[in-house]
Amino acid sequence: MRGAKIVGWGAALPDKTITNADLEARLDTSDAWITERTGIKERRIGGTTAGLATEAGRRALERAGLEPSDIDLIILATTTPDKAIPHSAATVQDQLRVSGGALDLNAACSGFVYALVTAHGLIGLGYERILVIGADTLSRVTDWDDRNTAVLFADGAGAVVLQATNGPGQLLGFDLGSDGSARHLLYADIGGFMQMDGREVFRRAVRVTVESALASMTRADVTADDIALLIPHQANIRIIDAVCQRLGIPLDRTVNVLERTGNTSAASIPLALVDAADSGRLKKGDLVMLAGFGAGMSWASAVLRW
Ligand code: UT7
Repeated sequence: MRGAKIVGWGAALPDKTITNADLEARLDTSDAWITERTGIKERRIGGTTAGLATEAGRRALERAGLEPSDIDLIILATTTPDKAIPHSAATVQDQLRVSGGALDLNAACSGFVYALVTAHGLIGLGYERILVIGADTLSRVTDWDDRNTAVLFADGAGAVVLQATNGPGQLLGFDLGSDGSARHLLYADIGGFMQMDGREVFRRAVRVTVESALASMTRADVTADDIALLIPHQANIRIIDAVCQRLGIPLDRTVNVLERTGNTSAASIPLALVDAADSGRLKKGDLVMLAGFGAGMSWASAVLRW
């Protein structure tokens, strides 16, 4: 059996920080409300999706000790491409001078886990190394006068290098899902701003994340007690808390970058993964659960043995 494992990781955030106080100064909101209802204190905005993706990808290659020519394929998960045509991965491929193929994958905030699972499948078919990136610049599709969305969304990128291994590899179980009938709950028309029914997204997010995590654990033949670290989509600390309570995973076994990044869509899970890896929270042999949800509505989870 041919598996795969993550051998490098990297993140990129724009320079510009927007604090809750900055938002308080221009919107009918408050630091207290945003902190209490979302867990976000500040977020980073600026740059382009391909620019942030390139930076994160370059760091992941460096961490893996690999050259761009070692990469067979780039999969860029994004819901905010820089242009309608071509795909943003084409720019990343050029900027990194990767010799292999490049594609964008859009499954909103679930995109990174979708991309990671897709990459595992392609490695099973014979690829050696795939650069999987989650990058979004939601600030470009956020109406900064709309307090429903402006307090939540931001920009960033996270990347991993997935490399073939002899044997079963890291991925023990996964679950990818979609309920397109709920796509009206969170959308942006082409050229328009994001529109969101926050309360309903919240309600469904908790349910689908829990169900998906349970499905992944069943496929991996593990239980919540076995999960050393849950890396959830960074959308709202109350969603993470509710998911943890239902799964029976204590909050201190999760990663929180949300406080300083806001919701960066497809970048959120890899940003949290990179934070956990860099801070030594991922120990060899640990079981790690990635679990996310997003517009579509989409959801995706995976159990990895680090
Ligand atoms: O990647 C997926 C992306 N989307 C999400 O994850 C969104 C999921 N939803 C959420 O995170 C939450 O629903 C929100 C953070 C969007 C909203 O929090 P909530 O606790 O569901 O608030 P709510 O919509 O029920 O509103 C509660 C109150 C309302 O006032 P009243 O009616 O109680 O007087 C709102 O008008 O809070 C008010 N409110 C605000 N106040 C200050 C709503 N937004 C704000 C705001 N600042 N930004």
